[in-house]
Amino acid sequence: MSIKVIFDTDPGIDDAFALFYALSHPEVEVIGITTVFGNVPIDISTNNAYILIEKSESNIQVFKGASKPLLRPNGNFPYFIHGDDGLGNINHARPENIKDNIEASDFIIDRAYRYPREINIIAVGPLTNIANVINKDPKIVEIIKSITIMGGSWFAGGNISPVAEANIYNDPEAAEIVFKSKIPITMIGLDVTHKVFLTASHIKYLASLKNNSGKFLQDISSFYVKFYKETKNMNGCYFHDATAAIAFTNPEFFIFKKGKVFVSQDRLTRGQTVIFESEKFHETPIDDERKNINIAKKVQSKKVINKFLEIAEKYMK
Ligand code: RIB
Ligand code: CA
Repeated sequence: MSIKVIFDTDPGIDDAFALFYALSHPEVEVIGITTVFGNVPIDISTNNAYILIEKSESNIQVFKGASKPLLRPNGNFPYFIHGDDGLGNINHARPENIKDNIEASDFIIDRAYRYPREINIIAVGPLTNIANVINKDPKIVEIIKSITIMGGSWFAGGNISPVAEANIYNDPEAAEIVFKSKIPITMIGLDVTHKVFLTASHIKYLASLKNNSGKFLQDISSFYVKFYKETKNMNGCYFHDATAAIAFTNPEFFIFKKGKVFVSQDRLTRGQTVIFESEKFHETPIDDERKNINIAKKVQSKKVINKFLEIAEKYMK
């Protein structure tokens, strides 16, 4: 039986790996891709989603979403990580199949009512589209089955600031709305994504597969890998968004703890995820009705990478 997924993304190189994984997984049915600003401005991230469906030979519709955070102006886009085009400067021609679809949050609302308690969202960019869904229709939280979020950090510090992970930092008000909602949430933050590395030899292996996707993923990742080499002296890259997609299909590779997640909107700590673990005694307990969510604390990294390589070999086109 296939599981219905809406894939919310800001492609982005690691987003591309995650999307290819979800699109090819035999038990996952991606019913739509929603785009958001983040790694690049919204027009580029939406173009990239079209490029990715073309390259993965999928027939899935793309729905353009938020161009900026809920309450703030856009910040600087990390072109030095993902390239000017968001896909490692491959400079792919503008895709021809771009359609004028309904807005991303309207699409999510429509499908949530069409398939009540069946829709899972994998969200690997800023959470603005999901917050827009909740703001437009607060009752919807009862019929969305789950959200798996790549974002936040518990004990791992930050990547965009000393304390904040980029997706949450990019729209902290939106993230707070989502973490406060009653939707069942799984958070895949830096505590686990900083433990999963895609190495140069994994990328070489992908390129050797008898499909076009592996070579494409190699092409887009060389810019990203160069960034990791130059700034962190790593021989490969973190596998952020794909780790979240794999947590969705294979939660048994992870250890989760339950907790309430709060998002800082303060200047210095903007986007920090502050977690009150349910099993822990806190001297200053937080008086807040929000639900405990699943927060990934540990990961079996090798299993995550091997699962990606297995799906790539067996099913990617
Ligand atoms: O912090 C990692 C996240 O930020 C990933 O989703 C990556 O694509 C960037 O958006
Ligand atoms: Ca992303």
